[in-house]
Amino acid sequence: MPRGMAERMGRLSPSATMEVRRRTEELLRAGVDVIDLGPGEPDFGTPEPVRRAGVAAIEGGCTGYTQAGGIPELRAAIAARYRRDYRVSYAVEEVVVAAGAKQALFSLALALFDEGDEVLIPAPYWVTYPEVARLCGAEPVLVPTDPTDGFHLSPAALEERVTPRTKAVIVNSPCNPTGALLAPEELEAIVELAARHDFYAIFDEAYEAIVYERGPFSAAPLKDEHVIVVGSLSKSHAMPGWRIGWVLGPREVIRAVLTVQSHSITHPASISQYAALAALEGAWDVVDPMVAEFRARRDLVVEALRKIPGIDCPVPEGTFYVFPDVSAYLGGDSAALARALLEGAHVAVVPGEAFGGRGHIRISFTRPRERLAEAISRIAATLEGLHG
Ligand SMILES: Cc1ncc(COP(=O)(O)O)c(C=O)c1O
Repeated sequence: MPRGMAERMGRLSPSATMEVRRRTEELLRAGVDVIDLGPGEPDFGTPEPVRRAGVAAIEGGCTGYTQAGGIPELRAAIAARYRRDYRVSYAVEEVVVAAGAKQALFSLALALFDEGDEVLIPAPYWVTYPEVARLCGAEPVLVPTDPTDGFHLSPAALEERVTPRTKAVIVNSPCNPTGALLAPEELEAIVELAARHDFYAIFDEAYEAIVYERGPFSAAPLKDEHVIVVGSLSKSHAMPGWRIGWVLGPREVIRAVLTVQSHSITHPASISQYAALAALEGAWDVVDPMVAEFRARRDLVVEALRKIPGIDCPVPEGTFYVFPDVSAYLGGDSAALARALLEGAHVAVVPGEAFGGRGHIRISFTRPRERLAEAISRIAATLEGLHG
């Protein structure tokens, strides 16, 4: 008789977004015109030169195993990109290619976190951080951020929660779901704190390229033994399905990630690595039209949401999400509100509870402008009914 699931599975929570997803798919299958503002991926295709490089890799027979840390040319191209854009020098041994930022974070957690360690996580947070910490036996310690302050992380709030068991902080800038972008001096303050208390500062920069008025900013130039930077091509080059990300960090951390990787995924797919090489060596201006379109959509969505009574919508400085405060409706139960919007407006959004941000919803502007305008006017009509 099998003895069931591992004890660690009891530490994981099922995704708070699952119910909305299930119902969205059910409605779509029934032919209902649902506008799905849930997805966390660009609605653009991968740029053509990158797609062609993938095809060439298949045709050229680049289909065997590669080194666990990735093909040396790609590791070098990642280092070159940071040298060019941020004037910081990482050796190839300080870079590892991963199968996306998520897998990079998972390998890092396995490499760094022990039972009983504490991991500081600013809230609202990306859903995976607390789960990945728990999976490795560590305890997530949430650090609240303030919407009136644009959800910026205060070093004082972070320091208040540091204990001798603090192993790391995971900082996400620009942040999914809030869109907050930390300035270089804020990144510096976090690194200074990590150095003083001797814990790792892990910077998840998956959205680094999707920024509007300021930036891009990276923590990579703050390179020291506490700094770990995670990057990805999923958002910048509309490549989520290719699964390419990376970690920059101290050599011993990179060696440990490499060991975890070599015994788990072996390496990211060879074909994707050659496509990623083309993305990194190619002109970064392929990103510009996407960012320009996202900026126009952001402005449209923020302006339309702000016209709805009771909604407060901070302007995101990066990412393709807005995270409005909808607590004036249904007593701040945003899970109930997301259900009401799906049933009443046929618009799918993600409830803030999924990100530790009750009273908010996450709206992803990864749809054409006319669909977004239609979605917000449907939301407005449904909310008016809820008020009355
Ligand atoms: C904050 C954040 N980090 C990492 C990822 C994962 O990116 P990747 O596709 O590179 O695994 C996502 C994807 O949504 C994200 O929102």
